Amino acid sequence: MKNINPTQTKSWEKLAQLSQAHAETSIKQLFESSEDRFEKFTVKLEDVLVDFSKNRINEETMSTLFDLAEEVDLKSAIEAMFSGEKINLTENRAVLHTALRNRSNTTVKFEGADVMPDVNAVLDQMKTFAGQIHQGKWLGYTGKPIKSLVNIGIGGSDLGPVMVTEALKPYQHPELEIFFVSNVDGTHIAETLKKVDPETTLFFIASKTFTTQETMTNAHTARSWFLDHAKDEAAVAKHFAALSTNAKSVEAFGIDTKNMFAFWDWVGGRYSLWSAIGLPIACMIGFDNFEKLLEGAHSMDKHFKSASFEENIPVILALIGIWNTNFLGATSEAILPYDQYLHRFAAYFQQGNMESNGKYVSRGNKKVDYPTGPIIWGEPGTNGQHAFYQLIHQGTHLIPCDFIAPAKSHNPIGDHHVKLLSNFFAQTEALMNGKSLEEVNAEMQKSGKSADEIEKIAPHRVFEGNRPTNSILVKEINPYTLGQLIAMYEHKIFAQGVIWNILSFDQWGVELGKVLANAILPELPGEEEVKSHDASTNGLINAYKQMRK
Ligand code: F6P
Repeated sequence: MKNINPTQTKSWEKLAQLSQAHAETSIKQLFESSEDRFEKFTVKLEDVLVDFSKNRINEETMSTLFDLAEEVDLKSAIEAMFSGEKINLTENRAVLHTALRNRSNTTVKFEGADVMPDVNAVLDQMKTFAGQIHQGKWLGYTGKPIKSLVNIGIGGSDLGPVMVTEALKPYQHPELEIFFVSNVDGTHIAETLKKVDPETTLFFIASKTFTTQETMTNAHTARSWFLDHAKDEAAVAKHFAALSTNAKSVEAFGIDTKNMFAFWDWVGGRYSLWSAIGLPIACMIGFDNFEKLLEGAHSMDKHFKSASFEENIPVILALIGIWNTNFLGATSEAILPYDQYLHRFAAYFQQGNMESNGKYVSRGNKKVDYPTGPIIWGEPGTNGQHAFYQLIHQGTHLIPCDFIAPAKSHNPIGDHHVKLLSNFFAQTEALMNGKSLEEVNAEMQKSGKSADEIEKIAPHRVFEGNRPTNSILVKEINPYTLGQLIAMYEHKIFAQGVIWNILSFDQWGVELGKVLANAILPELPGEEEVKSHDASTNGLINAYKQMRK
């Protein structure tokens, strides 16, 4: 991975000039001056269409952004990732989640050896296990088939399986239900255990490291609860499986390593749903559908690796994001799925994006002097429309939005879907066109408002517009297209990290809080006053000790 400060490139300088020169040009005007703007700024891969024409870009902006990608040598970074180079420099690890979904089964070398035989062996193990669960052949300690799955994990060991099982609910086995426990707050596990029967429940302890405090605490609670009912250690083997890279700790916890599904340190936590961490997904939607998810991601991988930057969906989205962040001053991005099944999609990419690119140290080990990863947020439309869209339309922040919608609904009831999609189209149109003072005045005059009233109210009803959006339309949300969408965002994030000259695959920023929590933990049980911290932290701890009495 090269160490190139993007702000020192010729294209960055030119982009800065372009942003000044075109500061007054609106997206609306850009459409008026170009008849084929939609065709020019739309890319398609199979059933996924990405329209980026409603951005403050023109051909010159795009070609300069492509130059930027060339100047920072994005091409060789992509090659380095796919070929198993240790691009996660601070952890000295390769980044090979793409091998997990390498359905072409071509050789992927890591430290001289092909990883594919191991990847395929775990997939076979997952297939057998998921099949047994699906067919009701995996029996609990009283001989009953498993009905409830409980995934205990956090971060990447939770969010991926949560998001995907929700997104693919129409593909779920009708007799299985799944629960997710992530929070160390005892309420999460307590409320979950109320809903399941120990005789028919299987726990997945999902943790790459098998040391994460939240997960291990919940896992021990689940194990004690289970043993309170089963009263037989031997029964644990029928009700607990581990998804982990850490065989030793899995064994120490008491899970039979026959029930362990392995992955490797070259799979990042937030990129792990394609690995054994995806086993609960495979159990819920069936292994065939899990394979389709992998196939979809593989199709996006091939596209990302081989398409020219001008045709490359993840690269284009990455560059548009950089344009918005570094040249137009956006600090956040909203992900707005117009699909209820995708209701955890934005939450999933909060980790995917913010844990990857929320960094201020460059690959040259210096503090950067330009913005990097934006704040990611979002909720499904149309709920968002009745909550936070006000700020997107008329607030003082520029918030680029990704609108995502399927053309076909899994629930074609009455006119729900056309209503949903009319909102999708209307919002991107409104954000771009806005509404001028003249239009508002004319509208108010027409409805008989007095001049006085118009003067007072009209300014509040004006929409400046010119708010950038990407529209991502897919034929339907199915395992294959979902795989494509996830991989699309993963690669966008990676490409941005390369351009920002940061390291996207470590997450040192989550460490400090963990260490301090471990230091505070032994101070909390007793009655004695705590004095070892700053005045606020001492004060809070001591107030807590008083309040809990
Ligand atoms: O929050 C930090 C993190 O390491 C994430 O990157 C990861 O997804 C999560 O914790 C869970 O880690 P593990 O799978 O090792 O329990």
